[in-house]
Amino acid sequence: MAYSKRCIVTGAAGFIGSALARLLLKETEATVLVVDKLTYAGVPESLKEVGLDSETLASSNSRLSFMKADICDQEAMDCAFAEFRPDTIFHLAAKLMNELGWRPRENFETGIRRTVQWYLDNEWWWKPIHEKKYSGQRLGTGK
Ligand SMILES: NC(=O)c1ccc[n+]([C@@H]2O[C@H](COP(=O)([O-])OP(=O)(O)OC[C@H]3O[C@@H](n4cnc5c(N)ncnc54)[C@H](O)[C@@H]3O)[C@@H](O)[C@H]2O)c1
Repeated sequence: MAYSKRCIVTGAAGFIGSALARLLLKETEATVLVVDKLTYAGVPESLKEVGLDSETLASSNSRLSFMKADICDQEAMDCAFAEFRPDTIFHLAAKLMNELGWRPRENFETGIRRTVQWYLDNEWWWKPIHEKKYSGQRLGTGK
């Protein structure tokens, strides 16, 4: 698969995110930064076969790095964007449906509200894509 982007995959210690990260690393040339808070659902072992040490979270794969962070931590996310300069983000950090019912206010704040707020705060990042002005250049290089 001819795909050599710089991808952030949030929630990539989870079920879907880890499958995507493995696919990107095995089947494409993409460089992947995983961002995961490692909740009870995060299983770093699922990235072992693509070079992640599940104890230290260090990677022996030059195309994979792991950042243990909460996607709600704006400072950490700004840092990830500035340093990694992604041109693609796969947002798969999530809470499962039955968990949403247990603490609805908290889960609305960190889930839906936070995702919408992210788009409002980071218009500079997605607007060129939305306006079809993006032609493959590296995004995330500045506001
Ligand atoms: N599992 C399925 O069959 C399935 C099918 C279709 C769509 N989806 C969707 O895919 C997405 C991911 O589902 P999943 O099954 O992989 O979930 P999962 O619970 O297995 O993984 C979620 C991951 O997100 C991480 N996470 C949670 N909150 C975080 C935060 N605030 N910051 C950083 N990381 C955080 C967790 O640590 C975990 O690794 C969801 O939106 C889900 O609706 C899942």
